Amino acid sequence: MCGIVGYIGKQEAFPILIKGLHRLEYRGYDSAGVALVNDNKELNVYKTKGRVADLEEFVKNKDISGTIGIAHTRWATHGEPNNVNAHPHYSQSENLALIHNGIIENYSTIKEELINKGYSFQSDTDTEVLVQLIEYIKETNKTDLFTAVQLALGEIVGAYAIAVLEKGNTDTIIAARKSSPLVIGIGEDELFVASDASPIVDYTNKVLYLDDEEIAIVKRGEEPIIRTIGNVKKSHKIVELEVNLSQLEKGGYPHFMLKEIIEQPRTLKDCMSGRINISCDNVVLSGILDNKEKFMNARRIIILGCGTSWHAGLIGEYLFEDICRIPVEVEYSSEFRYRHPVIYKDDIVIAISQSGETADTLAAIELAKEAGAFVFGICNVVGSSIPRNTHSGAYTHVGPEIGVASTKAFTAQVMVLNMMALAIGRAKGSITEDRFQHLIKELGRIPEKVEHILKDTSKIENLSKIFTYAHNFIYLGRGYNCPVAMEGALKLKEISYIHAEGYPAAEMKHGPIALIDNEMPVVVIATHNSMYEKIISNIQEIKARNGKVIAVVTENDCKMCNIADQIIEVPASEECLEPLLTIIPLQLLSYYIAVNKGRDVDMPRNLAKSVTVE
Ligand code: G6P
Repeated sequence: MCGIVGYIGKQEAFPILIKGLHRLEYRGYDSAGVALVNDNKELNVYKTKGRVADLEEFVKNKDISGTIGIAHTRWATHGEPNNVNAHPHYSQSENLALIHNGIIENYSTIKEELINKGYSFQSDTDTEVLVQLIEYIKETNKTDLFTAVQLALGEIVGAYAIAVLEKGNTDTIIAARKSSPLVIGIGEDELFVASDASPIVDYTNKVLYLDDEEIAIVKRGEEPIIRTIGNVKKSHKIVELEVNLSQLEKGGYPHFMLKEIIEQPRTLKDCMSGRINISCDNVVLSGILDNKEKFMNARRIIILGCGTSWHAGLIGEYLFEDICRIPVEVEYSSEFRYRHPVIYKDDIVIAISQSGETADTLAAIELAKEAGAFVFGICNVVGSSIPRNTHSGAYTHVGPEIGVASTKAFTAQVMVLNMMALAIGRAKGSITEDRFQHLIKELGRIPEKVEHILKDTSKIENLSKIFTYAHNFIYLGRGYNCPVAMEGALKLKEISYIHAEGYPAAEMKHGPIALIDNEMPVVVIATHNSMYEKIISNIQEIKARNGKVIAVVTENDCKMCNIADQIIEVPASEECLEPLLTIIPLQLLSYYIAVNKGRDVDMPRNLAKSVTVE
């Protein structure tokens, strides 16, 4: 949600901020804006509805000079996306400009108080309330900006990452965070603030991460000074970024999403690297090794996640119950956190999140920790909030995922869950050594099988043309492939805006079957596994009602060629590993359908990559 970037240095700030906004645009993209203090110490704010490119157009012939500035790309929470609600927001006197990511929950009470004191508001946002409050406190208490921000944040309920600029000050940005990420970049003679490292990596790999309720004075030529809202001095280690530039660029692909789909053979290898040895006979995950007793004695595993990460969690449920014989519950983080769940001290909670910043998952983790459970995170973004707030965990190591629809992060999450299940199952003795050895070798072969599927994508591209203009889709699967069907449907919805339902195949007859007619495409994952005969019966039920069946099948399955209207082949594998293969054609199918429909694949409407509001 919302991207923040700020710069102080020797170079002109505007081009650096714009480049940074392009990198952050995946976080939100309904409006964009920038504030700069020029050499005459004037504070200029420019903002507009639309994309970063619209902002570039908007500032033509305007004064965009200055070596200090802040910029924002928005995902609207309070107030529709328009020019006025876009950030930065000026204070009443126009002496301050502020950008914000998050939600200020008590904004209406504060707004009312400020209106009574003579303040007027231009926008419908919660953010404008904060900048006005800071100015009010600064003026009434006759304090400096830092103290005013500190006092104002003490009155705020909610989540924020903010950056503030002041007219007349060409040297300082005040930045602060609570429940929304903020990182400070330390370069040669230049300093940055940003929502994540992506706008910073071009200039420096040295960063420090702010913690909740911390405020930083980011001042030209000085080390950042950090204090808490309660004015306790803090110091943070400067750490080195692992992200490199090529990971943030499209590398010749038309979309990040396609690049990220095609990258999966490598990202799956990266995910296994150092964890599965070359001879593929052992799996070592330090997070499991260090907490072996806890995993062996777990009464239950609760898996938390949202969106695609929740679907990975559903696959985890099949894996842990099948391989480790541990009962599993999979929960939407947003439901879990508010439904007074029963949590035992010997429960293990596994939180799955690509970004490591999802607000609902973070809150659910806190709840589980308070109840005494051991919390293990599976995340992609190194140094993000979830890895910093869990007892232990495993990174997916797939590099930055930029496309809003998650692809390579999903397969890596499933890969980590597979490795965890094998490590725990072996330690517990819930699988035989023979089965362990067989599965781990098969797991090692997954990247080359994914590569094989991706070698020729033209069949799926052609197939996509037949179904591009369908209004609805149904996706069906059973067993391990049931969550894959749900994820396939989500992918299609997210980027093509076609309505799609993912369902357990046998449940179809309890409702969705009523939707089937000769215009309804039904994608069925019908690989040659223990559910094969059952799923054939489900397909027959669809055919009997004239539905159009697109079946994802195991290579050389002649029987299926005669039943389904269209087939997409994947290599044979062990049943528990199939999701790593069967999801690939579904990712491609949704990608090509969205492209055919002319959708903005990497930045689909209304969505954001990192959901830092609940
Ligand atoms: C957003 C993204 C999804 C993602 C979900 C959970 O909705 O658009 O792609 O699956 O958030 O995000 P997380 O970072 O926690 O995996």
